[in-house]
Amino acid sequence: MDTPRIVRPPRKLTPLIASLFALGGLALLVAFIYALSVAPGTVKAAPAPRSAQATNDFCLACHQQEGLTLALGADSLPATINPTQFGESVHAKEGLLCTDCHSNISEYPHPTVNEKSARAFSVSFYNSCKDCHADQYENLAQDAHQTALSEGNENAPVCADCHNPHTQPRIIGQTSGELSISARVHVPQTCAKCHGDIYDQYLTSVHGNALTQEGNVDVPVCTDCHKTHNISDPTTANFRNTTPQLCAECHSDASIMDKYGLSTNVVNTYVSDFHGTTVKLFSEQFPDEATDKAVCSDCHGVHDISKVDNPETGIALRENLLIKCQRCHPGATPNFPDAWMHHYTASPEHYPIVFYVNLFYKIMIPGIIGGMIFYILTDIYRRRVNRAKGVKHS
Ligand code: HEC
Ligand code: HEC
Ligand code: HEC
Ligand code: HEC
Ligand code: HEC
Ligand code: HEC
Ligand code: HEC
Ligand code: HEC
Ligand code: HEC
Repeated sequence: MDTPRIVRPPRKLTPLIASLFALGGLALLVAFIYALSVAPGTVKAAPAPRSAQATNDFCLACHQQEGLTLALGADSLPATINPTQFGESVHAKEGLLCTDCHSNISEYPHPTVNEKSARAFSVSFYNSCKDCHADQYENLAQDAHQTALSEGNENAPVCADCHNPHTQPRIIGQTSGELSISARVHVPQTCAKCHGDIYDQYLTSVHGNALTQEGNVDVPVCTDCHKTHNISDPTTANFRNTTPQLCAECHSDASIMDKYGLSTNVVNTYVSDFHGTTVKLFSEQFPDEATDKAVCSDCHGVHDISKVDNPETGIALRENLLIKCQRCHPGATPNFPDAWMHHYTASPEHYPIVFYVNLFYKIMIPGIIGGMIFYILTDIYRRRVNRAKGVKHS
């Protein structure tokens, strides 16, 4: 393990400072020489050469102590860093120094902190990840959270709310280049910190239940539907109109759905249905207007989607389905859902009348047209033959 480890320092701060005196003095001297080398007035100093920076052991000698706190206005922020957890983090494994992120600190006492609350302190680190993770940082520019933050909503997350910089493990497989299974299972908990109500609903849904109870990663987590660093506002017309495509990504894919015995025909049948056809035409014609026709989530729910045959909440139960229809068809009576073919294509088992009417037409129409063509052709033939005969005989 490449974690920097030190002999456990004494528990009390005072003897510790004494024992660190030599090291601190050295750091001071180095900092002094470094300060001289930087032109005055430089806005952003170039990073110091690594050898000149304080080591992690130096910082951790104080910061691994329990009970260390930082007073910020009325808030008291714990300032203890667990060296073992830090050592396991991707940043420690990549050999990052504390001072790569805390570039303003090289010694103790530290520069004065001006923020007056723990939240303001967190937000002040907003730019600290930018240099090394420019892609994620730039993505956030069009992000719903970022918009909320720039409108002054301090509760909107910054990088460190979703990724504790001191404990963040590696989440992207180094060879696969993909999000690891354990990281995927963990995603909803990341969002749950602030969206607890939605998380609770999600846990009870067929998707969330499969993820959390069975570790099934075929089901969608929050970021499959909302994206990650470019979360779009889910209340827009475009988001609503493209819901069927969102669900289709998995529900039209036989390599996923066959495992669960689920039909991959749900999107096709939806699109060939009157609601679906109109949604499609509508979003092509009016991309900026939210459709008033039913999309998948109007019948199935969003964060609380259940198995259709769930004995309590399933919409295969007519009375549960009727409630959904009534939102838009207020006068709908218990027979109303029967007017709709569900996801079935007509067959002798489902919608036999529609099936046989279709079949009848499938036989009748070719039959009638074929009969007529036959009649016309034989008629022409007869006339020709007659005419030929007539010519010969006249
Ligand atoms: C001599 C003990 C000691 C050493 C060494 C030390 N710290 Fe601290 N640090 C503290 C204490 C105590 C606090 C709590 C607030 C205060 O009293 O300044 C603190 C607070 C902090 C804070 C939060 C407040 C702020 O100033 O931003 C950060 C970040 C921090 N330390 C990082 C570091 C880093 C990085 C190093 C190594 C370069 C380091 N510390 C070395 C004792 C120390
Ligand atoms: C990858 C960047 C990064 C590294 C490496 C890093 N920190 Fe931090 N640190 C941060 C950020 C960002 C915050 C603000 C976190 C927040 O929102 O509370 C922070 C906050 C702190 C705080 C204030 C208390 C807290 O948890 O918010 C202390 C103390 C601290 N760091 C010490 C250290 C020490 C000691 C090391 C090295 C062992 C270290 N940090 C390494 C990014 C980093
Ligand atoms: C000095 C450069 C540096 C800074 C600053 C930095 N990181 Fe990193 N971070 C890295 C490196 C290097 C990796 C390993 C990435 C890799 O192997 O592709 C990493 C990995 C990560 C990962 C895991 C990605 C993966 O591939 O599994 C996350 C998440 C992350 N950092 C978040 C942050 C956050 C949040 C901040 C700011 C608080 C931050 N980092 C600041 C260098 C940095
Ligand atoms: C709202 C929570 C949230 C915020 C804010 C956030 N991330 Fe992430 N980040 C995630 C999640 C969740 C993943 C896992 C990938 C996924 O689910 O798509 C991730 C993945 C990553 C990765 C791995 C590579 C990748 O792009 O998938 C890095 C690196 C990273 N984030 C850095 C950052 C940095 C830097 C910031 C701030 C500029 C940031 N994140 C802000 C939640 C967040
Ligand atoms: C630190 C708290 C925090 C975390 C963590 C967090 N969010 Fe948010 N989220 C917010 C706040 C605050 C808003 C803005 C709320 C508002 O405007 O009503 C928001 C807004 C949103 C919105 C847009 C809602 C709208 O009506 O525009 C979506 C979607 C969203 N978050 C999804 C996520 C996902 C997915 C995750 C996890 C990857 C996550 N959030 C993590 C605090 C958080
Ligand atoms: C299967 C796709 C899907 C998954 C998984 C999902 N969402 Fe959503 N989410 C949606 C859709 C669709 C909407 C728009 C709902 C509407 O129009 O009422 C939405 C709306 C939202 C909103 C804003 C509206 C509101 O109800 O406040 C937030 C915030 C949100 N989701 C967060 C989350 C979080 C957090 C998770 C994970 C626990 C999550 N979502 C999982 C599809 C999904
Ligand atoms: C008008 C309401 C309505 C709409 C819109 C709707 N569904 Fe359904 N869906 C149902 C009902 C009711 C069932 C239960 C089976 C049945 O009666 O057809 C069902 C069944 C399902 C099933 C289970 C299939 C199986 O094999 O058991 C899935 C998956 C599904 N729908 C997904 C979707 C998707 C994806 C969309 C959007 C493209 C969608 N549904 C649109 C009402 C709807
Ligand atoms: C990331 C892939 C994925 C996405 C996106 C997705 N689903 Fe699913 N869905 C699944 C999987 C996998 C199952 C089967 C889970 C199980 O049974 O354990 C499932 C199950 C269901 C079921 C239960 C069927 C039954 O009765 O057993 C319904 C209904 C459903 N999804 C509707 C939707 C709707 C509506 C959307 C879009 C808002 C959607 N899903 C988006 C993967 C997905
Ligand atoms: C989100 C709203 C919404 C939901 C939910 C909804 N519908 Fe509709 N439905 C519409 C709209 C809008 C039309 C088109 C009405 C028009 O153009 O006159 C429509 C048309 C219909 C029609 C065609 C006949 C007519 O009245 O024009 C039937 C049948 C129908 N819906 C059945 C259902 C059934 C059954 C359900 C429940 C399973 C349902 N709908 C749920 C919005 C909805």
